[in-house]
Formats: sequence, C-alpha cells, structure tokens
Amino acid sequence: MKILTVVGARPQFIKAAVVSQEIRLRPGLSEVLVHTGQHYDDSMSRIFFEQLGLAKPNYNLGVGSASHGAQTGRMLEALETVLVAERPDWVLVYGDTNSTLAGALAAAKLGLPLAHVEAGLRSFQRAMPEEINRVVTDRISDLLFAPTNAAVRNLQNEGVDEKKVRLVGDVMFDAALRYVEYSDVGPFMARHDLQEKRFVLVTLHRAENTDSRARLSEIVDSLCGVGGATKVVFPLHPRTKAALDREGLLDRVTASTICVEPLGYLDMLGLERAASVVVTDSGGVQKEAFFLGTSCLILRPTTEWVELLELNCARLCEPADLAAAIASPPQSQKAAAQGLFGGGAASRRIVDALMDARAA
Ligand code: UD1
Ligand code: UDP
Repeated sequence: MKILTVVGARPQFIKAAVVSQEIRLRPGLSEVLVHTGQHYDDSMSRIFFEQLGLAKPNYNLGVGSASHGAQTGRMLEALETVLVAERPDWVLVYGDTNSTLAGALAAAKLGLPLAHVEAGLRSFQRAMPEEINRVVTDRISDLLFAPTNAAVRNLQNEGVDEKKVRLVGDVMFDAALRYVEYSDVGPFMARHDLQEKRFVLVTLHRAENTDSRARLSEIVDSLCGVGGATKVVFPLHPRTKAALDREGLLDRVTASTICVEPLGYLDMLGLERAASVVVTDSGGVQKEAFFLGTSCLILRPTTEWVELLELNCARLCEPADLAAAIASPPQSQKAAAQGLFGGGAASRRIVDALMDARAA
C-alpha cells in the first residue's frame, strides 16, 4: 500500500516525522513524501529533516512564498501532476496550512482517498486563514484523525459522518515524548546566561498579531518591559522579523530581548521545558509547553486546544495585559497531558486505521 504524504510548513515536518517512522515499521507499506516548498529557509525546513530523521522528499515542488491564492494554486497544479504519476492508495495531509488545503483539493479532485491528521480543530474565526483550510479539508476527507474529544465533538456538530472519524490523539505529543530526551540546551543557556525557570520564551507568527501595527507594538512594549532578572528569549519567525522591521520595531526588540533565528526542534523543546513561562500564538508551541509542564500565555482571543484552558495550564492573553500576565502566570499540570492527547500512540493508531480502512 502506498501512502503519499504532503508537507510544506515547519509544524508539518514534525507531525509527519513520527507517522513516517511508523509507516517504515510496517511491512507492505511505502511512503512517497512531497514537500510543497511553502517553508524553504534552512532554519524553517532543512533542520527538521536532519533532526527528526525524515527521509529526503521524493518531490520538492519549490512553491515558496506568495499570496494565499497564488501559493495554494501553484501547489494544487504541481500536486496534481505528482498524484497522477504516483496514484497512491492514500493521500495524507496534516494540520491547516495552505499546503494542507492544496493536498486535500488535489486528492479529492482526482478521487483519491484522503486522510487528514489534526481533523476537527476549530477556532470559529473564519477570518483566520487556517480555519478555512481546516473546514474545507475536513469536509472532503475520507478519514478524519481527531486529536482530542473536543475535535470529535466539533465534527459531530458539523454533521460529519462518524464512520469517517477516528479519535487517535495528538501526533505532536508522540513527537515531544520521543524527542525531548535528545534535547540539550545547556550550551544555548550558558551562551545567553539563562537560568532554569528564570526566563520567558516567546514565539509569534499569526497574521492577527504580525499584521496589526497596534497589536504588534503592544506586544513589543510588554516584552521590552519585562524587567529584573527575567530574560526574554525570542526566536523570530521570518514573517515576524519582516513585520517588526517594517514597523520600525526590530531594533528595540533586538536590544531588549535575546532575539535569535528560528530554532531547531530539539532546542525548542528544551527551552520550552526550561522556561518559566511560554508566550505564544502558535498552536504547536502552546501544547508543547503543556506537555512539558510549563505554563503558557496564548496571545490570541481563542484557542483550538480548549483542554489547556479547562485545566488552567494556559490562559488567553491580550497584548495590553501581557506584562501583568507574565508576572502572574497560570500554573501547569504536566501529568494531565497523558490521557488527553492519546498517550503517545497517535501515530500508531493512524497507520493502523489507514491499513484497516484500505483492507475493508
Ligand atoms: C504558515 C501557515 C500557518 C502555520 C505556519 C507555521 C498558512 C496559511 N499559514 O504561516 O498556519 O502556523 O506556517 O510556521 O499556510 N518566509 C520566509 N522563509 C520561509 C518561509 C516563509 O522568509 O522559509 C516568509 C515569507 O516572507 C512569507 C512569510 O514568511 O511570505 C509567511 O510564510 P507563509 O508560509 O506564507 O505563512 P506562515 O506565516 O509561515
Ligand atoms: N518550533 C521550532 N523552532 C522555532 C519555533 C517553533 O522548532 O523557532 C517548533 C515548535 O517546537 C513546534 C512547531 O515548531 O513543534 C510549531 O510550529 P509553528 O509555531 O511554526 O506553527 P503552528 O503550530 O502554530 O502551526
């Protein structure tokens, strides 16, 4: 049985790595890996292939950056050619990026079986580009791998045929459990004179934050105001770096925080564990903070990972309230992750389900 996996953006390399490893363990299964090229800097792509042991992609479509329509359209056209040539038994897509949508559309239009990992997540904000990508992908998928009970409920509420839905857990939990032991941030912490549980780790890249001058400057004001012995470590996503530069805020940020290039996954996991608080608008980073027992402030009006809020391990935060929230963060409960996110067996359940559905 041939599975064709479509990836393109940083979090998808991490999610696909653990499922790819599981595919390789199964006799009779093969994987064709397609990289759309949505993320292409070494620090956004190559480092993840190296650190996570992902195979070199069979195809790199080299699509690069563009407006949503142009980027998705270029991917769709190139993916169609690959799918026609490969005729896989399953097309497997991850998450909610433009690469996810293009992979899903290309498969559905050719009548190829489509499976979606991270199905059912909703922010209920249609203005968010990812929400459109998720809703459309779920609508046209044949197998929907939901990470949480909340995701299953969202799909039920939308009337999705329950026979297509599988509650499998979260592949990012599988990945965090597997890779955290390989992380060694000692050298990074020594270089930047960081003390365990005495620094704040920040990531930012959502359009709602980077593309609003008002929100971005409020965030910068708060981060630059974090004082005393508490340092702020800020790996900059290229979108964020460009936005800070455009708004004339970059010099201030580099002067007041430990501003670094995007980090590799292993350093990221280690710093998430060592930080006193994680501040982020990332879906993946908020969960990893939770998995690793670090409290988190989510710089968004909503989150798809409602379990973190229900357990009071994370809190939604407006930019204007950030400085006060950093001084008084929520308390995390690491143990809670185990049951809620599939116990580290999501990738095994996904591959089992792909094989079972094909045999049925
Ligand atoms: C994308 C996803 C988002 C996901 C994020 C993960 C969509 C709509 N968004 O957002 O859901 O959370 O990836 O990180 O698919 N750039 C570079 N080098 C790169 C990649 C991007 O410089 O390797 C710059 C380009 O200027 C580009 C901008 O970053 O225009 C944004 O990249 P893009 O992939 O369009 O969206 P992300 O913000 O990364
Ligand atoms: N990540 C990383 N280096 C960074 C920032 C994030 O390795 O500098 C990892 C992070 O640990 C998580 C994933 O990237 O596994 C999250 O991706 P991102 O925040 O880009 O996207 P999202 O999860 O919001 O879609």
